[in-house]
Amino acid sequence: MTRHLRVDEPIHDSPLDQMAQGVLGQPLNRLEGPLKVSGRATYAAESRPRGMAYGVLVQAAIPAGKVLGIEDAPGAIAVIQDKRMIRYAAQGLAEEGPKAGPEEVEYMGQAIALVVADSLEAARHAAQNLKIRYDVQDVPVDPTAVVPELPPKKQSSTGDLDKAMQQAPFSVDAVWHTPTHAAAAMEPHAAIAEWDGDSVTIRAGLQMLSSNRKQMADALGIRPKKLRLLAPYVGGGFGSKLGINAEAVAAAIAARELGRPVQVVMTRQQVFDLAHRRSETRQRIRLACDHEGRLTGIGHEALVSNLPGSDFSEPVTQATPFTYAAAHRQIVHAVARIHRSCAGSVRAPGEAVGVTVFECALDELAEAADIDPVALRLRNIPTVEPDTERPFSSHKLAEALHEGAERFNWSERRPPRQRVEGEWFIGMGMATAVRVNQLVEARAKVTLGPDGRAIVETDMTDIGTGTYTILGQIAAEALGLPQERVEVRLGDTDFPPATGSGGSFGAASSGTSVYLACEEVRQQIAKAMGCEAVDLTLQNGLARAGNVEKPLSDVIQSPLVGEGYVEPGKTEKSVRQATWGSHWAEVAVNRWTGEVRVRRMLGLFSCGRILNEKTARSQCLGGMVFGMGIALTEALEHDPRDGHAVTRDLGEYHIPCHADVPHLEVHFVPERDPYVGPLQAKGIGELSICGSGAAILNAIHNACGIRVRDLPATPDKII
Ligand code: MOS
Repeated sequence: MTRHLRVDEPIHDSPLDQMAQGVLGQPLNRLEGPLKVSGRATYAAESRPRGMAYGVLVQAAIPAGKVLGIEDAPGAIAVIQDKRMIRYAAQGLAEEGPKAGPEEVEYMGQAIALVVADSLEAARHAAQNLKIRYDVQDVPVDPTAVVPELPPKKQSSTGDLDKAMQQAPFSVDAVWHTPTHAAAAMEPHAAIAEWDGDSVTIRAGLQMLSSNRKQMADALGIRPKKLRLLAPYVGGGFGSKLGINAEAVAAAIAARELGRPVQVVMTRQQVFDLAHRRSETRQRIRLACDHEGRLTGIGHEALVSNLPGSDFSEPVTQATPFTYAAAHRQIVHAVARIHRSCAGSVRAPGEAVGVTVFECALDELAEAADIDPVALRLRNIPTVEPDTERPFSSHKLAEALHEGAERFNWSERRPPRQRVEGEWFIGMGMATAVRVNQLVEARAKVTLGPDGRAIVETDMTDIGTGTYTILGQIAAEALGLPQERVEVRLGDTDFPPATGSGGSFGAASSGTSVYLACEEVRQQIAKAMGCEAVDLTLQNGLARAGNVEKPLSDVIQSPLVGEGYVEPGKTEKSVRQATWGSHWAEVAVNRWTGEVRVRRMLGLFSCGRILNEKTARSQCLGGMVFGMGIALTEALEHDPRDGHAVTRDLGEYHIPCHADVPHLEVHFVPERDPYVGPLQAKGIGELSICGSGAAILNAIHNACGIRVRDLPATPDKII
């Protein structure tokens, strides 16, 4: 039986709080950790089906045009050119789902063919020696050199911002640039496809199996039922594995054509070329406030880019309409159609760069109006969503600001250039963290056996975030079992379809479906005990009702199966759902070299119920490091002549490394959100990315008096 919940109403009293187990929320270690560090967790490229051939992707050496012909190279079994591969390699499919696309080269570096051989070396050698003839087309590759288009979707504007700017005693009007960002997951994109008659099994690095299955079936022209995707372990995705990619499509096409399993693994450089990127942005921010620091005008105009015909555009201004209130607002979002690689969701799409820039602008306004940056934010927190007047589902920004200021000793902050240690200027900065929250439909199945062991099954993925562990904790809590008696099986489309990992909605959404499946099983246990489910207590493998207490093994004769299905309902529209927090940073800026060292960072986050304090904290630590990357190091540079990605490996694309990262402190602001279902838990993965870079950039200004508006803030922009 399936327990179905549509979240139409707030749930103020969570049944989980009545349960006696106390496993949920505990900072448990990741269950699959030992498998990963000992090499026993098999990633996409690590199985070896009999007779497997090796495919190497061939990339376009022109920015746009047609492939006229490819001359086969010796040593290859086949050179496969297929329009479907080109189509899926061009546009990415992260969120939009399958659709018809181009059959021509759209950007330099795009996959245009697959060379297959008996060994990787032979395939690579053949691929390097292919002679390819092109018909080259002249296309724009620079987002500032084209007339941008305004998407049809409503732009949020009200009042008269120009007038508000003229009349305000204090204002800021400036332009920021953020560069292209790469997801840069550690595990390169890889796939192994193996056909059995008209059915195919593909092992691949993927974040969202149920939608990936539809996309892949569409790409191959088969029914989804004929396709099984396996992704039990994924070495990070950060958005780049939300949709299917060229390697999986190519492997499946080649395997069918050759009648043997085919493996395709991208090189590190190919990952940077072929996985979608976060668009570079140009952001003009206008802010106006009165003498008390109340915002009267907010302007946020964003320019992003993508390929012609691609639906996705970096939602830079996503949080701007509801983070602060102002009577006069102008929010504009424009897209430049250019021929760089496909842009898609990367590590907190929208807010990662939008909130970061906006929070830098607020710091400039605080300085102009001579108001403490924390006070400025506290003064402008809206009580309802300004655009729609909907209430917030929960809102702990003020608490995060107050507690952060206290913990960080914010009162010790001095004006710029006044704290000096040797050749270093020391400064402090802060910013608000905000990210939209979403519940997504999800299904799960739970089986409780007479041996008192439970199995959780869903096609949810664990991309290194702790899904195995938290889903196990939820089931252990709801079924009254020690955690080690719950086995969690993920990453297989044979299991009920869940959300996949993305948009910070995975844990809370798939977790709710697991909880519902357990509720269904509890109901069956209650029936066997002859009591109502509310009167049943499950603890340590025992079932208790009134004076009767029995081991589960005495109650259950044959396996009990429950399915859970959650879908968003009225609360998705009736309230504004978001997560909140505050970022704090102290930096040292070298007065001679412009080098920035982050000395300490503090983050406070409110994300509803915390399902596992350790994995939650790890998410936040990672997000704060990404903020360091946005502020100081990360840039995927494009060649201005042809648009190709230049800094295309981990040596050139600088993610902060251990030596860059100081002590980071994370605290959770206690919160339950009744509008997101019985778990009362919200997204956590991306919030800590949103604004952490601003705290660093604001600290740089506080240290040395310099504002960097062209990110990242490398030393050349500071000295
Ligand atoms: Mo995330 S960028 O939705 O993987």
